[in-house]
Formats: sequence, structure tokens, C-alpha cells
Amino acid sequence: MSASPSPGSKLRSRAWFDNPDNADMTALYLERYMNFGLTLEELQSDKPIIGIAQTGSDLSPCNRHHIVLAERVREGIREAGGIAIEFPVHPIQETGKRPTAGLDRNLSYLGLVEVLYGYPLDGVVLTIGCDKTTPAMLMGAATVNIPAIALSVGPMLNGYFKGERTGSGTIVWKARELLASGEIDYQGFIRLVASSAPSTGYCNTMGTATTMNSLAEALGMSLTGSAAIPAPYRDRQEVAYHTGKRAVELVNEDVKPSDIMTKDSFANAIRVNTAIGGSTNAPIHLAAIARHIGVDLDIREWETLGLDIPLLVNMQPAGEYLGEDYYRAGGVCAVVGQLIKQGLIAENAMTVNGKTIGENCRGVEIEDERVIRPFDNPLRPAAGFVVLSGNLFDSAIMKTSVISEEFRGRYLSNPDDPDAFEGTAVVFDGPEEYHAKIDDPALGITPETILFIRGVGPVGYPGSAEVVNMRPPTYLLSEGVHALPCVGDGRQSGTSGSPSILNASPEAAAGGGLALLRTGDRIRIDLRAKTANMLVSDEDLAERQRQLEADGGYSYPASQTPWQEIQRNYVGQMSSGAILEGAEKFQRIAQE
Ligand code: FES
Ligand code: MG
Repeated sequence: MSASPSPGSKLRSRAWFDNPDNADMTALYLERYMNFGLTLEELQSDKPIIGIAQTGSDLSPCNRHHIVLAERVREGIREAGGIAIEFPVHPIQETGKRPTAGLDRNLSYLGLVEVLYGYPLDGVVLTIGCDKTTPAMLMGAATVNIPAIALSVGPMLNGYFKGERTGSGTIVWKARELLASGEIDYQGFIRLVASSAPSTGYCNTMGTATTMNSLAEALGMSLTGSAAIPAPYRDRQEVAYHTGKRAVELVNEDVKPSDIMTKDSFANAIRVNTAIGGSTNAPIHLAAIARHIGVDLDIREWETLGLDIPLLVNMQPAGEYLGEDYYRAGGVCAVVGQLIKQGLIAENAMTVNGKTIGENCRGVEIEDERVIRPFDNPLRPAAGFVVLSGNLFDSAIMKTSVISEEFRGRYLSNPDDPDAFEGTAVVFDGPEEYHAKIDDPALGITPETILFIRGVGPVGYPGSAEVVNMRPPTYLLSEGVHALPCVGDGRQSGTSGSPSILNASPEAAAGGGLALLRTGDRIRIDLRAKTANMLVSDEDLAERQRQLEADGGYSYPASQTPWQEIQRNYVGQMSSGAILEGAEKFQRIAQE
């Protein structure tokens, strides 16, 4: 803005609404914002203007309840002396967007940055929920750095089928196996999956949504105790009201995202992620938020900070319970309370309620130890991500908390070499090839096979597809082989309980070693040495590289939309957040 605000006011919105130095523009801004009933007195009374970044819509069912919650947010804003201005955010529906919702996180981020920077907003309530809506909103708030507070929409109520809990996403993987083995038919498949979605809200499992909403609270960006409240509960309406009030106070106190999202708060979030059994998408999204706020976060810190933390939250897919149970057991703060007792939380990290995370969560006890286990009686010890590297990729992660007994018994039980296994690669280029061929006996897939999928990273399959957790062929399923080792340069759903090696960076389409891999290559994975290699000589790899370059490089399908093309030209790799490279140089732009 070239205009300067009216003397005496600290509010950036005054540059639009009360700027005697630029009467022309001020009048133009005012007349149009008055045309739906806001009064001149309100707009010129030095009240903070608080945006409500609305991610809910009919296209975004996970976040749709925010349309209702926004009424309570408005009342909170008004109560605290602010003026609410609600605006739409580009939708990101995890399950509805083709080819993948991953494509739209950066687009939604870009849109939010333009709105927060270019309109008369002093602060913002970020309505978060479905997987990518949370990182997109936090990334945008980080770049612009006006006072911001996140409000989760909350998970759906628990799903049940014949008395058993059915969790979002997780039930799909189980239902797929039942369908493949003929135990249920198409209609039965749909009934079983639909039972997991009984109400408004986001996925009720510990998928990417519950993960990222929990981490938003652990980062300090949402009110303490708010992340886990199920969407339909009255507590959710109450916290919407308190969030609106607090947004105004944050403007008055001039507390900005950069005051809250510090290195300490990211370290806290990484540890919380292990304790909750969080999604393999979390490292990508936290890296993205960190880069936009200017905090250095290396992918290897997921291992150094997070690997040794135990799994405490007994929620699907790693455990058995769902969102309502998590809330009743104490939610994020009860988990943080356990970590604080062990000295594993940077207690001085500030949060949006004006207190530190230590002040908020120290001494908070677990309400139900079946759902949140105490630190000394965890579901699993050392349950974080291993970060692997080798000639296949510079980095990829593996979620150790979902390694099943069956998997451990088959691949990690050699007494001489308990943390390593070898196998023979079967390679798929993209999900279409995998779906077309997985049941083809000619591929010769056996329990010794390691399944690879490539061409599914941020560039290859724009946005990166959630496809690395590949099911074994039907003939192996019926022999009781429920999981083969899977490796890929794509992602997988946070609701999947598969111990895949994923988020491989760089991807095949960006010159990664995966592009050189061939079906039939021997592979060695060593979880203790943290290596993943194709056992192919350097000379052979160099020859394959020459051939690949002669063929014009690793090929992938053409872009279908303008944004796919633009994103492919600018997006980075998952290990560093898959952000639009170059965007991170724009930092704290509202202060400039
Ligand atoms: Fe939206 Fe899972 S599909 S939260
Ligand atoms: Mg997902």
C-alpha cells in the first residue's frame, strides 16, 4: 500500500477506511464496503477488521460445518470489539478433487496470500479441517504474518458397523481386501465405507486431518483443547465464539504468526506427531509452513527429534479408537502433558491464547488411558519416522508405528540382520499402470517382491498422488499376505496403516535415482543403517542414466489444466515441503 493510515491508529485497515491523505481512495473503499450495511461509524471507529477465511462449502463437505461455526466466530469478534468480514477460500476436498487434492494446497495458499495482503484485514480466523486446508491456511498466514488464529472444524462422530468402530479411510483399505477376496459385494462395500461418515466434520481417524489439526494446536496456532472437539458437539460452537474473541485480542496485542510459529514450536509439533501416530503427510506440510515463516527445518529432524518418542494415542489406523474417544481422553493437551513430564516439550513456546504451551498443558492428565496411553505404558516405543537415503533417493520416510506383526515377522525377523530385508523390485510407472497390472500373474509377484511406484511425485503426477500403499495381488491376499513392502515417490493417505517407504525426494520426474530402477533389480532396505539401495553397480547406473538422458529423461503425462503446468514449473520436492520455489522469499509481507 502506498497510502498511510490515519494518525494514531496501528490498524492496517485504516489505510483503506480512514486515510485523510487519500480521500479519493478512502471514499471508494468505504462506499462499497458500506453497501451491504456496514456503517461509516463502524468502519471508521478504529475497530479491528477480522477476516474469516471460509474453507467450507458444498464442495468441501469436511469443512462445510464452518459455515455454521462462522456465526459464532462473528459473535465472538463483535463481542470483543471487532468487525467480521468473511471471505471464500479456494476449496480443497481431499476425496473430491481430481487428479489429487495435493495439487491445490499451493493454489489455495496463493489465493489466501493475495486476500490477506491486498484487502483491509487486521487479523484473520483460519478455518481449518480437511487435510490440506490446514497447511494451506497456515502457510498463507505465515507469508503475510498478520495476527491469525486457526479454528478446526473438528472430526466427524465415530462411525460404527455392526457394533464395530469404522474409521474414515482406514475402513476403505479393509473393505478393499474384503471385496477383492469376495467376502462382500459392491453394495456391501459402499455401505461399509459410508458407515464411517455419520456426521459433519473431517475424517475421524488419525489421518492427515486429525494430524494437522492436532499439530496446529501443538504449534500454538489454535486455542488449547480445541483441535479434537468433534464437529457436532456444542463445545465446538463455544470454541468458535472464543476463537473469534481471541482474534480481536491478538490484533490489539499485536501477536503475529512469527511470534508463535518458532523453531521450538515446530520441534514440539514433530514430537507430538509421533505421540499421536500422525500422518506421513505431516513432514511435507510442516516443512512448507516452516519455510514460509522462515524457520529452518530439515527432514532429518523428524528422526532426530521424533523417532524415539512412543506412540501414545490409540487411534486407527495404528490403533483402535476414533475422534470422539480422542477428545474424551483429553485430546492434544493430554498428550502434550505426558511429553512435558519427560522434558520433551519446549514449554516456553507461545500460543494464541497468550500463554505458553507449558502453562496450558503442564499437569493436564489423561481422561481415558485406553485411548491415550501414559508415556511409560505406550502402544509402541520409538514410534516415529525413519528417514532413509541411498541410491534410490536422497530421502524418504517410513512410519514405524504401523509396521504390523505380520510384516515384522516376514521381513524383519532375520536374527542376524533384524532391521534389514532384501527383495526383488517390481516397478510401476504411475497409478494407472499399477491398477491395470497388479493382479497380472506374469509379473511374478511373490512375498519376496518389493513393490515400487514412481512418477507420482509433485511434478510427475502434479501435486503428488496418495498411491504408494499398494495392495498385494489378489492371489497373495488369499494366501494371507496382506502387505508387501512398498516404496515410491508419491504419498499415501494418513488413514492407511501401511509401512510404506514414501515421499521419496527427489522424485523420478525430477532426476531422482528411482528413475533408473528396473523390475528385477535386487533391493536392500536397512532400517538401522537408514539406507535404501538398489544393488546395481555404479557403472550400470551410469549407463542407465546415459540411456535415460538420450531418451529425453523420465517421461510423465502432460498437464491437463493451466495450474498443473504452472505448479510443475515451480514446485519443489516433498523433503522441503513441495512449496512453490521462490515463494518463500516473500516473508512477513504485511509488515513491509
Ligand atoms: Fe477431508 Fe479426510 S477427506 S478430512
Ligand atoms: Mg489424504
